[in-house]
Amino acid sequence: MAKTYDFGLVGLGVMGRNFILNVADNGFTAFGNDLDEEKVNALIDEGGDTDKVNASTEAETFVASLSKPRKIMLLVPAGKIVDAVIDNLTPLLDKGDIIIDGGNSFFTDTDRREAKLKEKGIHFFGAGVSGGAKGARKGPSIMPGGSKEGYKEVKPIFEAVAAKYEGEPCVTYLGPKSAGNYVKMVHNGIEYGLMQLTSEIYDLLKNAGGLSNKELHQSFDSWNKGRLHSFLVEITAEIFAQKDDLTDGDLIDMILDKAKQKGTGKWTSQNAMDLGIPVPTIDIAVSMREISALKEERMKADALYERPKPEEVMKRALIEKCEQALYFAFIMTYAQGMHQLADASKEYGYELDLGEIAKIWRAGCIIRAALLADITKAFKADAELPNLLLAPSFVSKVKETVNAARELVSYGATNGIPMPGLSNALTYFDAYTSSRLPLNLIQAQRDYFGSHTYERLDREGTFHTEWEE
Ligand code: 6PG
Repeated sequence: MAKTYDFGLVGLGVMGRNFILNVADNGFTAFGNDLDEEKVNALIDEGGDTDKVNASTEAETFVASLSKPRKIMLLVPAGKIVDAVIDNLTPLLDKGDIIIDGGNSFFTDTDRREAKLKEKGIHFFGAGVSGGAKGARKGPSIMPGGSKEGYKEVKPIFEAVAAKYEGEPCVTYLGPKSAGNYVKMVHNGIEYGLMQLTSEIYDLLKNAGGLSNKELHQSFDSWNKGRLHSFLVEITAEIFAQKDDLTDGDLIDMILDKAKQKGTGKWTSQNAMDLGIPVPTIDIAVSMREISALKEERMKADALYERPKPEEVMKRALIEKCEQALYFAFIMTYAQGMHQLADASKEYGYELDLGEIAKIWRAGCIIRAALLADITKAFKADAELPNLLLAPSFVSKVKETVNAARELVSYGATNGIPMPGLSNALTYFDAYTSSRLPLNLIQAQRDYFGSHTYERLDREGTFHTEWEE
Protein backbone atom coordinates (compact mmCIF):
# COMPACT_ATOMS: atom_id res chain seq x y z
CA MET A 1 0.00 0.00 0.00
CA ALA A 2 1.26 3.48 -0.89
CA LYS A 3 2.46 5.62 1.97
CA THR A 4 -0.17 7.83 3.55
CA TYR A 5 0.32 10.98 5.60
CA ASP A 6 -1.25 12.05 8.91
CA PHE A 7 -2.22 15.58 7.99
CA GLY A 8 -3.08 17.51 4.83
CA LEU A 9 -2.88 21.23 4.21
CA VAL A 10 -4.20 23.25 1.29
CA GLY A 11 -2.60 26.64 0.62
CA LEU A 12 1.17 26.68 0.74
CA GLY A 13 1.73 30.40 1.23
CA VAL A 14 4.07 31.38 4.05
CA MET A 15 1.52 30.50 6.77
CA GLY A 16 0.63 27.14 5.21
CA ARG A 17 4.22 26.13 4.56
CA ASN A 18 5.26 27.08 8.07
CA PHE A 19 2.32 25.27 9.64
CA ILE A 20 3.05 22.05 7.75
CA LEU A 21 6.74 22.16 8.70
CA ASN A 22 5.67 22.66 12.32
CA VAL A 23 3.43 19.57 12.05
CA ALA A 24 6.38 17.59 10.68
CA ASP A 25 8.72 18.87 13.43
CA ASN A 26 6.32 17.41 15.94
CA GLY A 27 6.49 13.87 14.65
CA PHE A 28 3.53 13.78 12.25
CA THR A 29 3.75 13.26 8.52
CA ALA A 30 2.13 15.91 6.36
CA PHE A 31 1.11 16.44 2.75
CA GLY A 32 0.55 19.84 1.15
CA ASN A 33 -1.48 20.99 -1.81
CA ASP A 34 -1.37 24.19 -3.81
CA LEU A 35 -2.11 25.05 -7.43
CA ASP A 36 1.22 26.85 -7.62
CA GLU A 37 3.98 24.41 -8.53
CA GLU A 38 6.69 26.69 -7.17
CA LYS A 39 5.11 26.62 -3.74
CA VAL A 40 4.76 22.84 -3.87
CA ASN A 41 8.43 22.46 -4.79
CA ALA A 42 9.52 24.97 -2.16
CA LEU A 43 7.78 22.92 0.53
CA ILE A 44 9.28 19.64 -0.70
CA ASP A 45 12.76 21.23 -0.69
CA GLU A 46 12.34 22.72 2.75
CA GLY A 47 10.78 19.56 4.17
CA GLY A 48 13.94 17.64 3.26
CA ASP A 49 12.47 14.11 3.47
CA THR A 50 9.43 13.26 1.33
CA ASP A 51 8.51 10.43 3.70
CA LYS A 52 7.73 13.13 6.25
CA VAL A 53 6.67 16.12 4.15
CA ASN A 54 5.39 15.87 0.62
CA ALA A 55 3.14 17.92 -1.64
CA SER A 56 1.32 17.99 -4.95
CA THR A 57 -0.53 20.43 -7.18
CA GLU A 58 -3.18 17.75 -7.86
CA ALA A 59 -6.16 17.54 -5.51
CA GLU A 60 -6.63 13.81 -6.34
CA THR A 61 -3.03 12.94 -5.44
CA PHE A 62 -3.33 15.05 -2.31
CA VAL A 63 -6.52 13.37 -1.09
CA ALA A 64 -5.27 9.88 -1.98
CA SER A 65 -2.11 10.51 0.03
CA LEU A 66 -3.88 11.08 3.34
CA SER A 67 -4.67 8.46 5.96
CA LYS A 68 -8.33 8.10 6.95
CA PRO A 69 -10.19 9.82 8.38
CA ARG A 70 -8.49 12.50 6.33
CA LYS A 71 -7.57 15.62 8.25
CA ILE A 72 -7.33 18.54 5.85
CA MET A 73 -6.61 22.07 6.92
CA LEU A 74 -7.19 25.04 4.61
CA LEU A 75 -4.93 28.06 4.96
CA VAL A 76 -6.23 30.11 2.05
CA PRO A 77 -7.59 33.68 1.94
CA ALA A 78 -11.05 34.05 3.50
CA GLY A 79 -14.04 34.35 1.17
CA LYS A 80 -14.87 32.69 -2.13
CA ILE A 81 -11.57 30.79 -2.32
CA VAL A 82 -12.54 28.77 0.77
CA ASP A 83 -15.81 27.71 -0.91
CA ALA A 84 -13.99 26.89 -4.15
CA VAL A 85 -11.43 24.70 -2.35
CA ILE A 86 -14.17 22.93 -0.37
CA ASP A 87 -16.20 22.30 -3.55
CA ASN A 88 -13.14 20.92 -5.25
CA LEU A 89 -12.23 18.57 -2.41
CA THR A 90 -15.66 17.34 -1.32
CA PRO A 91 -16.32 14.86 -4.18
CA LEU A 92 -12.98 13.21 -3.39
CA LEU A 93 -13.64 12.77 0.33
CA ASP A 94 -15.36 10.05 2.37
CA LYS A 95 -17.79 10.24 5.24
CA GLY A 96 -15.97 10.97 8.48
CA ASP A 97 -13.21 13.03 6.83
CA ILE A 98 -12.43 16.38 8.38
CA ILE A 99 -11.93 19.80 6.86
CA ILE A 100 -10.54 22.59 9.04
CA ASP A 101 -10.67 26.18 7.87
CA GLY A 102 -7.67 27.86 9.48
CA GLY A 103 -8.22 31.28 7.91
CA ASN A 104 -9.99 34.40 9.14
CA SER A 105 -13.36 33.41 7.71
CA PHE A 106 -16.46 35.35 8.64
CA PHE A 107 -18.32 33.32 11.24
CA THR A 108 -21.63 33.08 9.38
CA ASP A 109 -19.75 31.63 6.37
CA THR A 110 -18.41 28.94 8.69
CA ASP A 111 -21.94 28.11 9.92
CA ARG A 112 -23.14 27.81 6.33
CA ARG A 113 -20.21 25.59 5.32
CA GLU A 114 -20.55 23.39 8.38
CA ALA A 115 -24.25 22.77 7.73
CA LYS A 116 -23.59 21.95 4.07
CA LEU A 117 -20.74 19.54 4.80
CA LYS A 118 -22.64 17.87 7.63
CA GLU A 119 -25.21 16.68 5.08
CA LYS A 120 -22.37 14.88 3.32
CA GLY A 121 -21.06 13.35 6.55
CA ILE A 122 -17.92 15.49 6.50
CA HIS A 123 -16.81 17.16 9.73
CA PHE A 124 -16.02 20.80 9.34
CA PHE A 125 -14.61 23.25 11.75
CA GLY A 126 -13.27 26.74 11.70
CA ALA A 127 -10.07 27.16 13.66
CA GLY A 128 -8.61 30.60 14.14
CA VAL A 129 -4.83 30.50 13.95
CA SER A 130 -2.90 33.39 15.41
CA GLY A 131 0.74 34.26 15.59
CA GLY A 132 1.67 35.25 12.05
CA ALA A 133 4.25 33.38 10.01
CA LYS A 134 6.61 32.84 12.92
CA GLY A 135 3.79 31.54 15.10
CA ALA A 136 2.70 29.07 12.42
CA ARG A 137 6.27 27.73 12.30
CA LYS A 138 7.13 27.71 16.00
CA GLY A 139 3.76 27.44 17.74
CA PRO A 140 0.59 29.43 17.14
CA SER A 141 -2.43 29.84 19.35
CA ILE A 142 -5.20 27.79 17.75
CA MET A 143 -8.90 28.49 18.30
CA PRO A 144 -11.00 25.58 17.00
CA GLY A 145 -14.78 25.36 17.08
CA GLY A 146 -17.34 23.27 15.23
CA SER A 147 -17.60 19.51 14.97
CA LYS A 148 -16.45 18.11 18.33
CA GLU A 149 -16.18 14.63 16.88
CA GLY A 150 -13.94 15.92 14.10
CA TYR A 151 -11.85 17.86 16.57
CA LYS A 152 -11.01 14.69 18.53
CA GLU A 153 -9.16 13.40 15.47
CA VAL A 154 -6.94 16.44 15.08
CA LYS A 155 -6.51 17.19 18.76
CA PRO A 156 -3.16 15.36 19.14
CA ILE A 157 -1.72 17.18 16.13
CA PHE A 158 -3.01 20.60 17.21
CA GLU A 159 -1.81 20.13 20.78
CA ALA A 160 1.64 19.17 19.50
CA VAL A 161 2.03 22.13 17.14
CA ALA A 162 0.43 24.84 19.30
CA ALA A 163 2.44 27.30 21.38
CA LYS A 164 2.98 26.21 24.98
CA TYR A 165 2.44 28.34 28.07
CA GLU A 166 4.13 26.76 31.07
CA GLY A 167 3.87 23.44 29.23
CA GLU A 168 0.15 23.79 28.42
CA PRO A 169 -0.80 23.88 24.72
CA CYS A 170 -2.49 27.06 23.52
CA VAL A 171 -5.36 25.25 21.88
CA THR A 172 -8.65 23.87 23.11
CA TYR A 173 -12.03 23.00 21.65
CA LEU A 174 -14.01 26.21 22.07
CA GLY A 175 -17.57 25.32 21.17
CA PRO A 176 -20.00 24.32 18.42
CA LYS A 177 -20.59 25.92 15.02
CA SER A 178 -18.47 28.95 14.23
CA ALA A 179 -17.18 29.45 17.80
CA GLY A 180 -13.56 29.19 16.62
CA ASN A 181 -13.83 31.83 13.91
CA TYR A 182 -15.88 34.07 16.17
CA VAL A 183 -13.30 33.95 18.96
CA LYS A 184 -10.52 34.65 16.43
CA MET A 185 -12.50 37.60 15.08
CA VAL A 186 -12.77 39.13 18.55
CA HIS A 187 -9.08 38.34 19.13
CA ASN A 188 -8.38 40.48 16.09
CA GLY A 189 -10.69 43.24 17.33
CA ILE A 190 -8.70 43.33 20.57
CA GLU A 191 -5.52 43.30 18.47
CA TYR A 192 -6.75 46.43 16.63
CA GLY A 193 -7.48 48.16 19.96
CA LEU A 194 -4.09 47.36 21.49
CA MET A 195 -2.28 48.49 18.34
CA GLN A 196 -4.18 51.79 18.21
CA LEU A 197 -3.40 52.46 21.88
CA THR A 198 0.28 51.68 21.38
CA SER A 199 0.42 54.11 18.46
CA GLU A 200 -1.18 56.89 20.57
CA ILE A 201 1.37 56.40 23.33
CA TYR A 202 4.11 56.58 20.69
CA ASP A 203 2.60 59.87 19.47
CA LEU A 204 2.62 61.33 22.98
CA LEU A 205 6.12 60.21 23.81
CA LYS A 206 7.48 61.47 20.52
CA ASN A 207 5.56 64.71 20.10
CA ALA A 208 5.01 65.79 23.71
CA GLY A 209 7.99 64.13 25.35
CA GLY A 210 10.42 64.61 22.46
CA LEU A 211 11.73 61.05 22.82
CA SER A 212 14.14 59.87 20.15
CA ASN A 213 13.62 56.47 18.53
CA LYS A 214 16.38 55.14 20.75
CA GLU A 215 14.56 56.39 23.85
CA LEU A 216 11.28 55.00 22.53
CA HIS A 217 12.98 51.65 22.09
CA GLN A 218 14.28 51.82 25.66
CA SER A 219 10.89 52.71 27.14
CA PHE A 220 8.96 49.98 25.35
CA ASP A 221 11.73 47.50 26.01
CA SER A 222 11.68 48.21 29.74
CA TRP A 223 7.84 48.10 29.82
CA ASN A 224 8.01 44.72 28.17
CA LYS A 225 9.96 43.47 31.18
CA GLY A 226 7.13 44.48 33.53
CA ARG A 227 3.34 44.16 33.74
CA LEU A 228 2.97 45.32 30.13
CA HIS A 229 4.94 42.29 28.94
CA SER A 230 3.31 41.36 25.63
CA PHE A 231 4.07 40.50 22.05
CA LEU A 232 2.89 43.88 20.75
CA VAL A 233 4.97 45.89 23.24
CA GLU A 234 7.97 43.66 22.48
CA ILE A 235 7.79 44.15 18.70
CA THR A 236 7.12 47.87 19.17
CA ALA A 237 10.44 48.17 21.03
CA GLU A 238 12.16 46.30 18.20
CA ILE A 239 10.53 48.46 15.53
CA PHE A 240 12.04 51.63 17.05
CA ALA A 241 15.50 50.07 16.88
CA GLN A 242 15.24 49.13 13.20
CA LYS A 243 17.55 51.03 10.85
CA ASP A 244 16.39 51.83 7.33
CA ASP A 245 18.15 49.96 4.49
CA LEU A 246 17.47 52.69 1.96
CA THR A 247 18.45 55.81 3.90
CA ASP A 248 20.62 56.69 6.88
CA GLY A 249 17.58 57.10 9.11
CA ASP A 250 15.39 54.84 11.21
CA LEU A 251 12.82 52.79 9.35
CA ILE A 252 9.85 53.91 11.49
CA ASP A 253 10.30 57.51 10.30
CA MET A 254 10.10 56.45 6.65
CA ILE A 255 6.86 54.46 6.87
CA LEU A 256 3.71 56.08 5.48
CA ASP A 257 1.13 56.78 8.20
CA LYS A 258 -1.72 54.89 6.50
CA ALA A 259 -2.75 51.59 8.13
CA LYS A 260 -4.52 48.99 6.06
CA GLN A 261 -6.96 46.33 7.25
CA LYS A 262 -8.40 43.07 6.04
CA GLY A 263 -11.68 43.42 7.89
CA THR A 264 -11.67 41.33 11.05
CA GLY A 265 -11.56 44.41 13.32
CA LYS A 266 -14.46 45.93 11.42
CA TRP A 267 -16.44 42.68 11.71
CA THR A 268 -15.86 42.65 15.48
CA SER A 269 -17.14 46.17 15.74
CA GLN A 270 -20.13 45.58 13.45
CA ASN A 271 -21.13 42.41 15.28
CA ALA A 272 -20.76 44.10 18.66
CA MET A 273 -23.26 46.69 17.43
CA ASP A 274 -25.62 43.90 16.38
CA LEU A 275 -25.31 42.30 19.80
CA GLY A 276 -25.66 45.64 21.59
CA ILE A 277 -22.34 45.27 23.37
CA PRO A 278 -20.13 48.38 23.65
CA VAL A 279 -16.58 47.96 22.35
CA PRO A 280 -15.63 51.63 21.82
CA THR A 281 -11.87 51.11 21.86
CA ILE A 282 -12.18 48.57 19.06
CA ASP A 283 -14.65 50.78 17.14
CA ILE A 284 -12.32 53.75 17.23
CA ALA A 285 -9.32 51.62 16.29
CA VAL A 286 -11.16 50.72 13.07
CA SER A 287 -12.15 54.36 12.48
CA MET A 288 -8.57 55.49 12.98
CA ARG A 289 -7.37 53.14 10.25
CA GLU A 290 -10.05 54.71 8.05
CA ILE A 291 -8.97 58.27 8.99
CA SER A 292 -5.35 57.29 8.37
CA ALA A 293 -6.29 56.27 4.82
CA LEU A 294 -7.41 59.86 4.09
CA LYS A 295 -3.82 61.06 3.91
CA GLU A 296 -4.29 63.65 1.16
CA GLU A 297 -7.36 65.18 2.79
CA ARG A 298 -5.58 65.21 6.13
CA MET A 299 -2.68 67.10 4.60
CA LYS A 300 -5.01 69.72 3.14
CA ALA A 301 -6.89 70.07 6.42
CA ASP A 302 -3.65 70.32 8.37
CA ALA A 303 -2.76 73.42 6.36
CA LEU A 304 -6.15 75.02 7.17
CA TYR A 305 -6.20 74.60 10.93
CA GLU A 306 -3.58 75.58 13.41
CA ARG A 307 -2.84 73.04 16.07
CA PRO A 308 -1.41 73.92 19.45
CA LYS A 309 2.28 73.43 19.99
CA PRO A 310 2.50 70.76 22.68
CA GLU A 311 3.39 72.18 26.10
CA GLU A 312 6.67 70.95 27.48
CA VAL A 313 6.47 68.01 29.80
CA MET A 314 8.91 66.24 32.05
CA LYS A 315 10.15 63.27 30.05
CA ARG A 316 10.55 60.88 32.96
CA ALA A 317 7.11 61.65 34.41
CA LEU A 318 5.52 61.32 30.97
CA ILE A 319 7.12 57.93 30.39
CA GLU A 320 5.77 56.69 33.72
CA LYS A 321 2.29 57.99 33.00
CA CYS A 322 2.32 56.43 29.54
CA GLU A 323 3.16 53.04 31.02
CA GLN A 324 0.28 53.33 33.49
CA ALA A 325 -2.20 54.62 30.94
CA LEU A 326 -1.29 51.94 28.41
CA TYR A 327 -1.77 49.24 31.04
CA PHE A 328 -5.13 50.75 32.01
CA ALA A 329 -6.30 50.95 28.39
CA PHE A 330 -5.09 47.41 27.59
CA ILE A 331 -7.30 46.19 30.45
CA MET A 332 -10.27 48.12 29.04
CA THR A 333 -9.72 46.61 25.60
CA TYR A 334 -9.56 43.03 26.86
CA ALA A 335 -12.62 43.77 29.05
CA GLN A 336 -14.60 44.90 26.00
CA GLY A 337 -13.57 41.91 23.89
CA MET A 338 -14.34 39.42 26.66
CA HIS A 339 -17.70 41.08 27.25
CA GLN A 340 -18.53 40.66 23.57
CA LEU A 341 -17.54 36.99 23.73
CA ALA A 342 -19.74 36.41 26.78
CA ASP A 343 -22.73 37.89 25.03
CA ALA A 344 -22.08 36.19 21.68
CA SER A 345 -21.83 32.88 23.50
CA LYS A 346 -25.41 33.26 24.71
CA GLU A 347 -26.70 34.67 21.45
CA TYR A 348 -25.17 32.04 19.18
CA GLY A 349 -25.11 29.09 21.61
CA TYR A 350 -21.31 28.75 21.57
CA GLU A 351 -21.06 27.71 25.24
CA LEU A 352 -17.75 29.57 25.50
CA ASP A 353 -15.55 29.21 28.54
CA LEU A 354 -13.90 32.63 28.80
CA GLY A 355 -11.22 31.34 31.19
CA GLU A 356 -10.19 28.75 28.58
CA ILE A 357 -10.09 31.40 25.85
CA ALA A 358 -7.86 33.71 27.89
CA LYS A 359 -5.73 30.66 28.69
CA ILE A 360 -5.04 29.79 25.05
CA TRP A 361 -4.20 33.43 24.34
CA ARG A 362 -1.38 33.46 26.89
CA ALA A 363 1.17 32.37 24.27
CA GLY A 364 1.50 32.09 20.51
CA CYS A 365 -1.02 34.72 19.44
CA ILE A 366 -0.63 38.39 18.56
CA ILE A 367 -2.45 39.60 21.70
CA ARG A 368 -0.47 37.40 24.09
CA ALA A 369 0.39 39.37 27.20
CA ALA A 370 1.22 38.89 30.85
CA LEU A 371 -2.22 40.36 31.54
CA LEU A 372 -3.85 37.28 30.03
CA ALA A 373 -2.61 35.13 32.91
CA ASP A 374 -4.54 37.48 35.26
CA ILE A 375 -7.58 37.46 32.97
CA THR A 376 -7.50 33.65 32.92
CA LYS A 377 -7.50 33.58 36.73
CA ALA A 378 -10.36 36.09 36.92
CA PHE A 379 -12.61 34.01 34.64
CA LYS A 380 -11.54 30.74 36.26
CA ALA A 381 -12.56 32.23 39.62
CA ASP A 382 -15.94 33.27 38.22
CA ALA A 383 -16.98 31.74 34.89
CA GLU A 384 -20.09 33.95 34.81
CA LEU A 385 -18.17 37.20 35.27
CA PRO A 386 -20.05 39.66 33.04
CA ASN A 387 -17.15 42.08 32.75
CA LEU A 388 -13.50 42.06 33.77
CA LEU A 389 -14.07 45.36 35.57
CA LEU A 390 -16.22 43.48 38.08
CA ALA A 391 -13.40 41.03 38.91
CA PRO A 392 -12.10 41.79 42.43
CA SER A 393 -8.52 41.09 41.28
CA PHE A 394 -8.74 43.86 38.66
CA VAL A 395 -10.01 46.66 40.89
CA SER A 396 -6.62 47.70 42.25
CA LYS A 397 -4.93 47.35 38.83
CA VAL A 398 -7.44 49.82 37.40
CA LYS A 399 -7.48 52.19 40.37
CA GLU A 400 -3.69 52.49 40.29
CA THR A 401 -3.54 53.43 36.62
CA VAL A 402 -6.73 55.31 35.72
CA ASN A 403 -5.45 58.71 36.81
CA ALA A 404 -2.56 58.55 34.38
CA ALA A 405 -5.09 57.92 31.61
CA ARG A 406 -7.09 60.96 32.76
CA GLU A 407 -4.02 63.18 32.70
CA LEU A 408 -2.85 62.02 29.28
CA VAL A 409 -6.29 62.29 27.70
CA SER A 410 -6.65 65.82 28.98
CA TYR A 411 -3.10 66.67 27.86
CA GLY A 412 -3.88 65.28 24.40
CA ALA A 413 -7.12 67.26 24.16
CA THR A 414 -5.47 70.53 25.20
CA ASN A 415 -2.46 70.06 22.99
CA GLY A 416 -4.09 68.71 19.84
CA ILE A 417 -2.64 65.19 20.01
CA PRO A 418 -5.41 62.75 19.08
CA MET A 419 -5.94 60.13 21.79
CA PRO A 420 -9.15 58.46 20.59
CA GLY A 421 -8.35 54.96 21.82
CA LEU A 422 -7.18 56.11 25.22
CA SER A 423 -10.05 58.56 25.67
CA ASN A 424 -12.58 55.92 24.59
CA ALA A 425 -11.07 53.44 27.01
CA LEU A 426 -11.39 56.03 29.75
CA THR A 427 -14.93 56.96 28.77
CA TYR A 428 -15.86 53.30 28.69
CA PHE A 429 -14.52 52.96 32.21
CA ASP A 430 -16.25 56.11 33.49
CA ALA A 431 -19.56 55.16 31.92
CA TYR A 432 -19.48 51.49 32.91
CA THR A 433 -18.67 52.41 36.48
CA SER A 434 -21.39 55.11 36.76
CA SER A 435 -24.45 53.94 38.61
CA ARG A 436 -26.30 56.95 37.23
CA LEU A 437 -25.93 58.18 33.64
CA PRO A 438 -27.75 61.12 32.04
CA LEU A 439 -29.66 58.80 29.70
CA ASN A 440 -32.87 59.54 31.61
CA LEU A 441 -32.89 62.70 29.51
CA ILE A 442 -32.69 60.68 26.30
CA GLN A 443 -35.68 58.61 27.46
CA ALA A 444 -37.57 61.82 28.18
CA GLN A 445 -36.71 63.21 24.73
CA ARG A 446 -37.80 59.96 23.04
CA ASP A 447 -41.06 60.06 24.89
CA TYR A 448 -41.52 63.77 24.15
CA PHE A 449 -41.21 63.54 20.38
CA GLY A 450 -42.21 59.96 19.72
CA SER A 451 -44.30 58.71 22.66
CA HIS A 452 -41.73 55.94 23.09
CA THR A 453 -42.52 55.73 26.83
CA TYR A 454 -40.08 55.54 29.71
CA GLU A 455 -39.54 53.63 32.92
CA ARG A 456 -39.28 55.27 36.35
CA LEU A 457 -36.85 54.94 39.20
CA ASP A 458 -39.54 54.84 41.88
CA ARG A 459 -42.11 52.38 40.49
CA GLU A 460 -42.53 49.49 38.05
CA GLY A 461 -44.17 49.86 34.66
CA THR A 462 -43.99 51.90 31.48
CA PHE A 463 -45.06 55.54 31.45
CA HIS A 464 -45.90 58.20 28.93
CA THR A 465 -46.30 61.93 29.50
CA GLU A 466 -48.18 64.44 27.35
CA TRP A 467 -45.19 66.78 27.45
CA GLU A 468 -46.61 69.72 25.46
CA GLU A 469 -49.76 70.20 27.48
C1 6PG B 1 -3.03 36.92 13.82
C2 6PG B 1 -3.46 38.14 13.06
C3 6PG B 1 -3.77 37.88 11.65
C4 6PG B 1 -4.29 39.10 10.89
C5 6PG B 1 -3.31 40.20 10.74
C6 6PG B 1 -3.72 41.31 9.78
O1 6PG B 1 -3.68 36.66 14.81
O2 6PG B 1 -2.05 36.26 13.45
O3 6PG B 1 -4.62 38.65 13.67
O4 6PG B 1 -4.75 36.86 11.61
O5 6PG B 1 -4.67 38.68 9.65
O6 6PG B 1 -3.00 40.75 11.96
O7 6PG B 1 -4.94 41.88 10.09
P1 6PG B 1 -5.34 43.27 9.40
O8 6PG B 1 -4.84 43.21 8.00
O9 6PG B 1 -6.82 43.36 9.45
O10 6PG B 1 -4.65 44.31 10.20
